[in-house]
Amino acid sequence: MFHDIPESIKKRMQYLEELDTQDRIDGTHRMERLRQIPPETGKFLSILAASAPKGDFLEIGTSAGYSTLWIALVCQLIGNKVITFEILKEKAELARETFELTNLKDVVELIEGDARDYIPNYKNISFCFLDAEKEVYDDCYDLIIPNMIEGGILVADNAINHYKTLKPMLDKALADERVDALIVPIGKGELVCRRI
Ligand SMILES: C[S@@+](CC[C@H](N)C(=O)[O-])C[C@H]1O[C@@H](n2cnc3c(N)ncnc32)[C@H](O)[C@@H]1O
Repeated sequence: MFHDIPESIKKRMQYLEELDTQDRIDGTHRMERLRQIPPETGKFLSILAASAPKGDFLEIGTSAGYSTLWIALVCQLIGNKVITFEILKEKAELARETFELTNLKDVVELIEGDARDYIPNYKNISFCFLDAEKEVYDDCYDLIIPNMIEGGILVADNAINHYKTLKPMLDKALADERVDALIVPIGKGELVCRRI
């Protein structure tokens, strides 16, 4: 998977990594920044997604589609598709450009809107990456877990760098008997839950 990343995907990943780094140093306003995961978190997502059972793959918080690319690599491999949600028009436009340039339009479905309005439509969630505003994590968790199939995997970003803000949701997940959960110190800290 990592040894034969198509050239168009490699090129777009590199472009977005540079844009994200630039955003962080040039004082770009928070809401305009891409706020992407680092590459090691991308690889972690790919490996977890490749190990997930067959079912619906979701992503909450697309931004320009960088993390989606790591999940899409798996989808190409196993013949699945990822549905990704982005609430901001400007970010959705950038993401559309990403999926066009990388020829992933058949593998990625981008839905522009609040993910919370759509999650209940997916009853067989087998993989979900949650990376949105911290205020919606708790609502998303409550919507995802009941619709997740046995063995399904939920990964939530920022479990360490936003630990204080996310603590109520993290504590809930760690004590939730419907899942086995832990926080992994990779990137910004990933909460990983496996549905029992
Ligand atoms: C941290 S960025 C996502 C970065 C992306 N996952 C990556 O690593 O490339 C969070 C994104 O979530 C979007 N967002 C926030 N709340 C949302 C919601 N309720 N539904 C869909 N998207 C949301 C924001 O507009 C923002 O673009």
